[in-house]
Amino acid sequence: MKAVLFCFLILCSSLSIATFSGATKTQRAFSIDLFHYNSPLSPFYNSSLTSSQLLKNAASRSISRSNRVSLLVSEDKLPSTITTPDEFLPEYLIRYYIGTPPVERFAIADTGSDLVWVQCSPCKKCNPQKPPLFDPKKSSTFRTVPCDSQPCTLLHKNQRICGTSGQCVYGYSYGDKSFTIGQLGVDLINFSSNRNATFHKLTFGCGFLNKEAVHIDTRMSKNTGLVGLGAGPLSLTSQLGDEIGRKFSYCLVPFGSKFTSKLKFGSESMENVKGVVSTPLIIKSNIPTFYFLHLEGISVGNKMVKTSKKSAVANDYGNIIIDSGTPLTSFEKTFYNEFVSLVKEVLGVKEAKENPLNTLCFRYHAKSSFPNFVLHFTGAKVSMNRDNLFYYSDEENLLCSLFHTGKFGFPILGHMAQVGFRVEYDLHGGKVSFAPTDCTKN
Ligand SMILES: *[C@@H]1O[C@H](CO)[C@@H](O)[C@H](O)[C@H]1NC(C)=O
Ligand SMILES: *[C@@H]1O[C@H](CO)[C@@H](O)[C@H](O)[C@H]1NC(C)=O
Ligand SMILES: *[C@@H]1O[C@H](CO)[C@@H](O)[C@H](O)[C@H]1NC(C)=O
Repeated sequence: MKAVLFCFLILCSSLSIATFSGATKTQRAFSIDLFHYNSPLSPFYNSSLTSSQLLKNAASRSISRSNRVSLLVSEDKLPSTITTPDEFLPEYLIRYYIGTPPVERFAIADTGSDLVWVQCSPCKKCNPQKPPLFDPKKSSTFRTVPCDSQPCTLLHKNQRICGTSGQCVYGYSYGDKSFTIGQLGVDLINFSSNRNATFHKLTFGCGFLNKEAVHIDTRMSKNTGLVGLGAGPLSLTSQLGDEIGRKFSYCLVPFGSKFTSKLKFGSESMENVKGVVSTPLIIKSNIPTFYFLHLEGISVGNKMVKTSKKSAVANDYGNIIIDSGTPLTSFEKTFYNEFVSLVKEVLGVKEAKENPLNTLCFRYHAKSSFPNFVLHFTGAKVSMNRDNLFYYSDEENLLCSLFHTGKFGFPILGHMAQVGFRVEYDLHGGKVSFAPTDCTKN
């Protein structure tokens, strides 16, 4: 995707923010399950994989993901080198029903992209999937989108062409060279039996030529597309817009929990929630998809490392992307090195040779006391649990970091660091809030 495209998109989204800024009232609230595909409750669960195997898989996916994001960011000339990830496996999936009569679909929930799309028949090239393809001809409520109408014109002109019968044909590519091409349509989409979760005219891409650079994994064959939750104008969250008060949140349960995580739209105000802290949500006009926060530093015990002023990335306000789709957290290299030195100093640990997750591991004894790790975002100090930042293996007395410096990647706050918090994105209020929560009870 080219920079020009991003300029175009922000024009639209900032326009819509300005137009609707008076409307704050949530008209609908609903909550849906967010299936981590390794959770025992998930339809994707494979009981034969061990938890350390799962973590290793998660770690390798983080590195790919960070590179994938950096590809997008780097096209806007932020300093990052580009590598092509060879594997990208998404983390969370949601279930929805589309059309009349409704057809069940599972799709990747992605805060790092905007379009909602599903693989459709007749298909020229589709990723392998178990359920039959969605056939728009069999849905009495499906309508094609004409090329001159609003949803079509929200796509950049390089992302659309006019079909032979005046229908909107889209082409949407991702940073990792995967893409979807198809017809833009509207249909009834329903996220649960809750009436608040039924939408009569959601715009989505009916993809008939799709290539996902997904590592082929049998558990993923129920996946049929993608639901973009980013900040751009065609994402699910932007389409629901004022109906959900321009607000959504999630609460992620710990790795391997037998409860499901939740995604809430139009959630009630978090102002009075115990322990809640908020930091500005930064949407950059040149790359409007991503949710940026500003990390000022991290403290370990009573010592702190600050993000580098020298780095061009850190200098920019909004130096880390918050993402639900990346397991591990990645930091800019200079900052990472300083942070690791501080961790070693305060914990009094030495680097181990073993690195089962391909991250940094330390020899560590569980009985030692553990200092408080706090992420200092602008205006919000978020106190981490040990498991947000480290994986501890007591057999080996190994403490391995759940953060790394994606060699070429852009800084990302991954979802493991967000487990045990309710994280709310308030686009109207321009802030992200964190509240420590037992997500298994929500
Ligand atoms: C529907 O949304 C409204 C407004 O947010 C809320 O008060 C109500 O409880 C929701 N209904 C259900 C069944 O969730
Ligand atoms: C919504 O989804 C449920 C399944 O949870 C389905 O039975 C129902 O028919 C759907 N409602 C509409 C209006 O499509
Ligand atoms: C589960 O994982 C094992 C080990 O990787 C694999 O051989 C098997 O095919 C998987 N089963 C399913 C249903 O995905």
